[in-house]
Amino acid sequence: MSVKIALLGCGTVGTAVATMLQEQNGDFAERAGDTLELIGIAVRDLDAPRDPAIDRSLLTDDVDGLMAGADIVIELIGGIEPARTHVLNAIRGGATVVTGNKALLAAHGPEIYEAAAEADVDVYYEAAVAGAVPVVYGLRESLAGDRVESVLGIVNGTTNFILDEMETAGLSFDEALKKAQDLGFAEADPTADVDGHDAAAKIAILASLAFHTRVSIEDVPTTGIRAITAEDIAAAKRDGYAIKLLAIARRRDAGIELSVEPTLVPHDHPLAAVRGSFNSVVIEASGAGRLMFYGRGAGGAPTASAVLSDVVAGASHRVHGGRAPRELTYADLPILAREDS
Ligand code: HSE
Repeated sequence: MSVKIALLGCGTVGTAVATMLQEQNGDFAERAGDTLELIGIAVRDLDAPRDPAIDRSLLTDDVDGLMAGADIVIELIGGIEPARTHVLNAIRGGATVVTGNKALLAAHGPEIYEAAAEADVDVYYEAAVAGAVPVVYGLRESLAGDRVESVLGIVNGTTNFILDEMETAGLSFDEALKKAQDLGFAEADPTADVDGHDAAAKIAILASLAFHTRVSIEDVPTTGIRAITAEDIAAAKRDGYAIKLLAIARRRDAGIELSVEPTLVPHDHPLAAVRGSFNSVVIEASGAGRLMFYGRGAGGAPTASAVLSDVVAGASHRVHGGRAPRELTYADLPILAREDS
C-alpha cells in the first residue's frame, strides 16, 4: 500500500514538487505513515520541454483517468478553469486536495469548501499564500484560540522584488519584471502580480481565515505598482521611506476593511527590510499580540515546501485518521467601503 499522489501541472512549482517527492520519499514515509507514490503528472502539452529531473513516463494528458487512481490530488495548474472543475471532480471522487491556487480560492473558495464538507474530504492550501511562510497554518491552527484584529503584509514576491530592484539596483520596471519572470516568481500572466490581483486574492484568503467570514477578491480595493516610478522610489527613500505593496485586512467596529496598495513604509519598520521576493505578514491578535511571519513567498522550492507539508498532513490523516480544520465561515461581517473606515 502507498498513498497515491496525482499532480496536476508541471510548471515551476509542479516541477519542484515532483522532484522533491521523488528525492525525499523515504523521509516522507516516516512522517506520513506510508510511502507517498507519485502516480502521474497531468500536463497540457506532453511534448513541451521539461526539467530533466522529471520522469517523462509519469506525464499524461488524461486528467480524469489520473485522478481516478489518486488518494491525494495536487492542483498546481493555476487560474480558474479548468482548475476549478478538476478540483471539484477530485473532491467528489473522494480525494484529498492540495492546491496552491489563490485565484481559485479567492473567487470560488466557498463552493470548494462546501463540496469538500459534503464529500467529507480535506482541502489544504498553505502554498496559496506567501509560499513557504506558514501563515495559513498560523491563522487556521495556531491562532484558533484567539481573536485576530488585523493581518497586514507583503504577500507578492514579484512586486516586492521589482520595487527592491528599482530602489537598490537602479533597474527599470520592465527590466526588474523580466528578471522576476526569469527567476520563476511571477505568475504566468504577470499582470496579476503588478496590478495587485495576486496580493488581493491572498489577502481575501487570509481575511476569510482570520475573521471566519467570506471575503472574495472582489471585496478588495486594489491598486498595483504600475504607476510607481524610479523617481517616486528615490523621493520616498530620501524622506526615509520604502514603497511597499501592502495587503491589509482589519477588523473595525462595523465590519472588515480591506486594501491592496503601494504604501510608504518608514525605514525603521520591519516591513521596510523585506527585500527581494521575500514575503512578510504581521498579524495582531488580542491575546497573542503581534506576530510576524517572514520567508520566501515565491519560487519553486519554497512553494513546493508548503505543498509538501500539506501532502504529508493529508497523507497522515488518510493513514492515521484525523482531519484538517474545517473552513469556518460563521461570521457575517460587512466589508466596509474605504470611505466608511
Ligand atoms: N507570483 C507570486 C508572487 C507567486 O510573486 O508572489 C507566489 O504566489
